[in-house]
Amino acid sequence: MNPVALIEKKRNGAELSDDEIRWIVNAYTSGHMPDYQMSAMLMAIYFQGMNRDELVSLTRCMIESGNVMDLSGIPGRKIDKHSTGGVGDKVSLVLAPLMAAAGVVVPMMAGRGLGHTGGTLDKLEAIPGFQVRLSESQFKRQLKEIGCAIMGQTEHVAPADRQLYALRDVTGTVPSIPLICSSILSKKKAEGAEGLVLDVKIGKGAFLPTRKQTIELAGTLVDIGNALGIQTQALITNMDEPLGNAIGNWLETREAVNALQGNGPEDLMQVTLALGSVMLVLAGLSGNYNAAVRDLQRLINSGRALEKFEELIRTQGGDLTVIRHPDTYKEAKFAVDVTAARDGIIHGIDARQLGMTAVSLGAGRMKKEDAVDPKAGILLHKKTGDSVRSGERIMSFYTDRPEIREMASRELTQAVSVRPDSVQRIDLVERLISQDRDVLYSELN
Ligand code: URA
Repeated sequence: MNPVALIEKKRNGAELSDDEIRWIVNAYTSGHMPDYQMSAMLMAIYFQGMNRDELVSLTRCMIESGNVMDLSGIPGRKIDKHSTGGVGDKVSLVLAPLMAAAGVVVPMMAGRGLGHTGGTLDKLEAIPGFQVRLSESQFKRQLKEIGCAIMGQTEHVAPADRQLYALRDVTGTVPSIPLICSSILSKKKAEGAEGLVLDVKIGKGAFLPTRKQTIELAGTLVDIGNALGIQTQALITNMDEPLGNAIGNWLETREAVNALQGNGPEDLMQVTLALGSVMLVLAGLSGNYNAAVRDLQRLINSGRALEKFEELIRTQGGDLTVIRHPDTYKEAKFAVDVTAARDGIIHGIDARQLGMTAVSLGAGRMKKEDAVDPKAGILLHKKTGDSVRSGERIMSFYTDRPEIREMASRELTQAVSVRPDSVQRIDLVERLISQDRDVLYSELN
């Protein structure tokens, strides 16, 4: 087949056949189609979208680019969670051990930072020694022994997504419903999940700019996930401002540990427990969302969820010293405070801007091959609804890059809106979408 003709076909809005999609995925993953042609194809998909048949074909081809793990020999329900991408979103770090402590088996294949959002793998790699490259047999053994494992894609498991994800990150082609959907679901099918709870982010820091597109993404994920044989549900959660107080790989890992110690920020806990309740009900281990939240809270209070996180870190080669003594972690060379210019109430902290500034500080990648700096990031001292006085600290940022400090201070100052009047709170956890219903989470019990 001729790659240029296929790019032109998609660019002009025509439907690609199953054979054509298969050819493109195979040509790219085998190195016969160069990055520049695949980038053009991704951009064509970004602008033209894909219909359901094309999307099912693309997702299946991405799954078939590697192996699908058979987890049938592992007792228990295998349920995973995946987010469509957020800022300060360290939920997976808290949720995977928490659910394993509750008796759910969590096979988690996670990704790296993408665009302005962070990635679970980069956060875990902030822990010295932590290995995200697990073989299939290690992954299965760990699931059997401790009930959770978090790994990255390998050349054997959803390799097409690993390559496409890195290319999308640096070509402006992340915010596309078919590309997000095929990326997430190919990983989840390949890891052998039976059930999946998606955290679909809505708001300023989400990839998709409008509510309509976000709801469409959630519906598409639920539809295609179930068509692939994964019991899939989606929870819509707000991402106007960063989740929790920390943005950046080590800062977020430390905040996740605090959360597992029972000291997590309220918004992070609310989203984590809501997702956990949906997973517990989907796993058949609870019949009631409110009771599930109470059970999960008890597992945190008793220290069992933290013990499970330590077990996960130890099993994947991580050094527990920094988890038990976080103050021993190497500090960034520069710490800069961002302060309020006037008295007032915080009306918003732009998650997307903070995510982009965090990338410039070193917490994410500008190019595919860039290394991330685990120490770089931002700590929020105030959140929406808090009052501030002129000159008071709103946040601090951390970096080893002196040349970036002035620009970062300016961007972060502009990302905060302070006004004299009070602000109305919005629901962080909005609604649950499954195959047969779409309900407000607050109405579930
Ligand atoms: N998470 C993924 O795994 N893929 C995407 O495209 C976006 C979020």
